[in-house]
Amino acid sequence: MAQIGTDIQKASSLLQQGELVAIPTETVYGLAGNALDVDVVAKIFAVKNRPEFDPLIVHVSSLRDAEKYVVDIPKKAERLTKLFWPGPLTLVLKKKNEIIPALVTAGLDTVGIRCPDHPLTRMLLSVLSFPLAAPSANPFGYVSPTSPQHVNAQLGDKIPYILDGGNCPVGIESTIIGFENETPIVYRMGGLSIERIENVIGNVEVRAHSTSNPITPGQLKSHYAPSKKLILGNLDELLQQYPAHSSGILTFSKNYHSPYQRILSPGGNLEEAARNLFQYLRDFDQMPIDVILAELLPEAGLGRAINDRLVRASAG
Ligand code: TXA
Ligand code: MG
Repeated sequence: MAQIGTDIQKASSLLQQGELVAIPTETVYGLAGNALDVDVVAKIFAVKNRPEFDPLIVHVSSLRDAEKYVVDIPKKAERLTKLFWPGPLTLVLKKKNEIIPALVTAGLDTVGIRCPDHPLTRMLLSVLSFPLAAPSANPFGYVSPTSPQHVNAQLGDKIPYILDGGNCPVGIESTIIGFENETPIVYRMGGLSIERIENVIGNVEVRAHSTSNPITPGQLKSHYAPSKKLILGNLDELLQQYPAHSSGILTFSKNYHSPYQRILSPGGNLEEAARNLFQYLRDFDQMPIDVILAELLPEAGLGRAINDRLVRASAG
């Protein structure tokens, strides 16, 4: 198992030696390594068992820092960074040159770049002389980790150290936005709502639901899946078809008084629901149940990103 601790010195010296370290962010834990070292990046793909066509996000400490690696930053992108960096927003921007190895970006001429908002990781980035490539710290296709224990359970035997930043306060991955001929395109809904983005830059095109020919594997239909089969629908109807004693129940706020239920937010708060989502999906894997029955949340705010995860999980 990996060592878990809050020693930034240790994390930074391991990273400088070309090792991988799991890092806390406000969204989910990342499996981090030196983004400029192709051997380290190859190790990230290997540890995650991730196909090399799926590009990694590069984590930087500021927009200034990002400018070392990207060119032609659209005005709208810059405005978003002013308001939402550090924060749960990844920008897909044109790569400057090959400072960032092609393996990081799966050969694309763009790079996904973000400035995470977690005090430990911000401190870590400030002492490192390189940016951190970091996918979510889970085996490819499984639910993202929102605590050091989640990381340890799945990748603990493959990495030396997990920087312990507690539970992730946002709980779902960053929103990914890129620009095609100046038009903003959302490739993955996430911890920053579409409404908050549109308030700043106007209408965006949401392409995160596309299932055929995905450019972004975050768009792959079967993703974010727990090990148990997840069935989405009207819970009252589903409970007539599936026996309650062998079914997990995932609700937004309603209480079904089942021993195998998880209520995302009893008070109906979407931020709280997002924070709990991945922990609860993991909980079901430990329960003596055959299926998970779940309902969609309101299609607003973080509800859209949560629904996106539920739909994908149900396709898994
Ligand atoms: O919140 C997050 O974004 C977390 C934390 C650790 O920062 N990271 C994360 O990484 O979720 P990952 O690798 O699990 O998901 C990154 C997504 C993938 O779906 C990938 O295809 C997409 O970002 N992506 C990366 N670079 C891209 C690019 N140049 N163009 C389009 N999509 C890109
Ligand atoms: Mg991931």
